[in-house]
Amino acid sequence: MSETVLVTGGAGFIGRFVCAELFRRGNAVRVLDALIPQVHGPQGLDNIDRPSALPDEVEFIRADIRDGDAVAKALKGADSVVHLASEVGVGQSMYEVERYTSVNDVGTAVLFERLIDNPVRRVVTASSMSIYGEGLYRDADGVLVEDAERGSVRDGQQVWEPLDRQGRPLTPVATPEWKRPNLASIYALNKYVQERTTHIMCAPYGIEGVCLRLFNVYGPGQALSNPYTGVLAIFASRLLNGQQPMIFEDGEQRRDFVHVTDVARAFADALVLPQAAGGTFNIGSGNDRSVTQVAEALAQAMGKNDLAPDIVGKTRTGDIRHCFCDTGLAADRLGFTARQDFVEGLAELAAWVQQQTAQDRVGEARAELEARGLVA
Ligand code: UD1
Repeated sequence: MSETVLVTGGAGFIGRFVCAELFRRGNAVRVLDALIPQVHGPQGLDNIDRPSALPDEVEFIRADIRDGDAVAKALKGADSVVHLASEVGVGQSMYEVERYTSVNDVGTAVLFERLIDNPVRRVVTASSMSIYGEGLYRDADGVLVEDAERGSVRDGQQVWEPLDRQGRPLTPVATPEWKRPNLASIYALNKYVQERTTHIMCAPYGIEGVCLRLFNVYGPGQALSNPYTGVLAIFASRLLNGQQPMIFEDGEQRRDFVHVTDVARAFADALVLPQAAGGTFNIGSGNDRSVTQVAEALAQAMGKNDLAPDIVGKTRTGDIRHCFCDTGLAADRLGFTARQDFVEGLAELAAWVQQQTAQDRVGEARAELEARGLVA
């Protein structure tokens, strides 16, 4: 199927790979993106008509997702939409509440209101594993626990692991889509609103809605100087600047890292597969790793083994302890399996990072959170 696809937020890290994949599959691609300075550089790319990272064939509209007229214009002649435009920092969402809610919730509302007059065949929206809050756990009796909560201070010691009601440790297991959301940050709330808006607004207007709950996406092109970006880009930027990666909690928190090319493939598939319509799918690698493991593996890939992680023993408000991906539904319904090997992916990331200059602003970001009591 060859279509004109509108990709909101298409100039961002994930968006650029999605555009390339859609283009490779023979689609015409149009991007609507505001090029926000936090992601695209301090000068805000003020005088730039289009970002150089986008292929020439991609049509580019620079506009905010909340600009209804620009969105309506971008929808003219579009057959389908990939909705990626969002503010993405979990920690930052806990104090820039209005900005996050405005861009993420209102922006999505604007898109769907404009879709009423300019309907498309299908919309695929990027959601996030953040909506789960804590992932799924199993208790000592083998019973699955959906509503685990982080431990608190016990006998003067911080307990990082969630405990059951009798205070026994829980074992994290892969999280499937049926686990009920447990929204622990404004960002997670925003992502859930985007998901629900997609399904609520698509059905009555004859549009097919699909949501992809992305796990931790990594790869070359992540915004290295954005201190609120994903953990691997933050660590890469620290290591590049000769600084130790700074690890919150004890570093044993577990995530699922999925390569951006796998994610781009998932979006392109979700846009066309008939059986995807109306669905919500986890997109992850199916492998879980601790934050310390990935910090060490990245330091090794970058030849910076001397920069051992600095474990700060504090937690960011809104962070979850463990969440990793149950890939079963995406495999069964979409035939999707991640292909990128993690060690090779890190080597490629390291090679890309070495060619970049990144401003390390992680200390600044931590100070912002600490000043508000959001790291404790
Ligand atoms: C990330 C994304 C979110 C996305 C989700 C699923 C960001 C900011 N967050 O959330 O948009 O929806 O994955 O794809 O991109 N950590 C450190 N040191 C640091 C930074 C982080 O130890 O300098 C730890 C955190 O405390 C956390 C883990 O690393 O335990 C992951 O953090 P982060 O990459 O911010 O991601 P998520 O909250 O998992």
